[in-house]
Amino acid sequence: MSKNIAIFASGNGTNAENIIRYFQNSELVNVELVLTNRESAFVLERARSLNVPFACMGKAEWMDGTAVLSLLENRGIDFIVLAGFLARVPDCILHAYPNKMINIHPSLLPKFGGKGMYGDRVHEAVIAAGEKESGITIHYTNEHYDEGAIICQVKCPVLPEDTPDDLAHRIHALEYDTYPKVIEKLLESEG
Ligand code: GAR
Repeated sequence: MSKNIAIFASGNGTNAENIIRYFQNSELVNVELVLTNRESAFVLERARSLNVPFACMGKAEWMDGTAVLSLLENRGIDFIVLAGFLARVPDCILHAYPNKMINIHPSLLPKFGGKGMYGDRVHEAVIAAGEKESGITIHYTNEHYDEGAIICQVKCPVLPEDTPDDLAHRIHALEYDTYPKVIEKLLESEG
């Protein structure tokens, strides 16, 4: 039976679009909802043009969680994928989706993770620290930023001449290649 997923995203949404496209003809996964916490998030344009239902919830609704949870239940959401989602996930949603919510982070956690570490800030910190390699981490979500059980990590080099933009580009390519396949595998194994 097909599983309904919701993608939570706060910004540009290139990962969200990549996941939507990957599952467009899937019999296993249906992207049922894109949900954001920012009205101006470009991910909403992407969802609109790809004909995926979308919604934006304001700060109070995210902090309380009840309306978000009702929406997820009404849409029959089985699994939640965070893709550049920068707000805290309310506890009631964490509890309603145990081991059914995953996140992607653009570094090799536990390095360069935690509150305030997202997107380009991560790449800037990696380069400033003189790291020779970076990568991505896909992990289950829990009450603490970037601390849930790790599902997979994929590494890439950091080159001496890299700018944060260069590294972001390399990391995004890894994310596009890996994230949809990991989602597919997890949902396949659930049966
Ligand atoms: C991605 O690189 C994702 O790993 C990162 O935000 C970017 C979103 O890009 N997430 C975090 O930093 C979470 N702490 P996108 O909006 O183009 O998909």
